Amino acid sequence: MTMHIPTPKTPAPTPKEWRAAMGYFPSGVTIVTTWDKDQPVGSTVSAFCSVSLEPPLLLICLDHANPIRPAVEACGVFGVNILNDQSSALALHFAASPDADRFEGNPYHAEDDGAPQLDCAPVFIDCVVEHALVAGDHLVVVGRGVRIEHASAHPPLLYHKGGFLKLVS
Ligand SMILES: Cc1cc2nc3c(=O)[nH]c(=O)nc-3n(C[C@H](O)[C@H](O)[C@H](O)COP(=O)(O)O)c2cc1C
Repeated sequence: MTMHIPTPKTPAPTPKEWRAAMGYFPSGVTIVTTWDKDQPVGSTVSAFCSVSLEPPLLLICLDHANPIRPAVEACGVFGVNILNDQSSALALHFAASPDADRFEGNPYHAEDDGAPQLDCAPVFIDCVVEHALVAGDHLVVVGRGVRIEHASAHPPLLYHKGGFLKLVS
């Protein structure tokens, strides 16, 4: 069978147009954690979503330039710390400060063979890497959830058009 691939009639979106369009779609905010040898490492990640219920799968997208990307691949486990609306400063901290300083003053713990779990995270999901797929300038990592902790108090932190929002009901 031959597939007909239509020729695009308009120029491809520029990175600026793409960012603006994608930024309209609101998301939550997470801090993805893993181990680099024995050291905890973490990065703010909004490219996160559920993939499958049975088995429990989720995905995250990591920029190839993000130092946590090789650490996740090497370690084979990672944690998703979903943030609440009190944690916008923490989200910026885990995106901008030097890697070595990110856990300073931010207590965490971990189960055997698990990833670092931030004490302040209302939802934490321990994952093992199931698949990794290079997609353009990012790596799509599919993780199988092996443990969940859920202690929700505040509503989730939201990210939209490059800024943080709170959920108002
Ligand atoms: C709100 C927010 C969302 C982000 N989402 C992602 C993401 O989905 N994937 C990613 O690789 N980086 C994302 N980043 C950027 C990384 O957190 C950041 O580049 C990473 O921690 C490495 O920091 P460095 O560039 O200072 O080394 C996001 C940053 C912010 C502030």
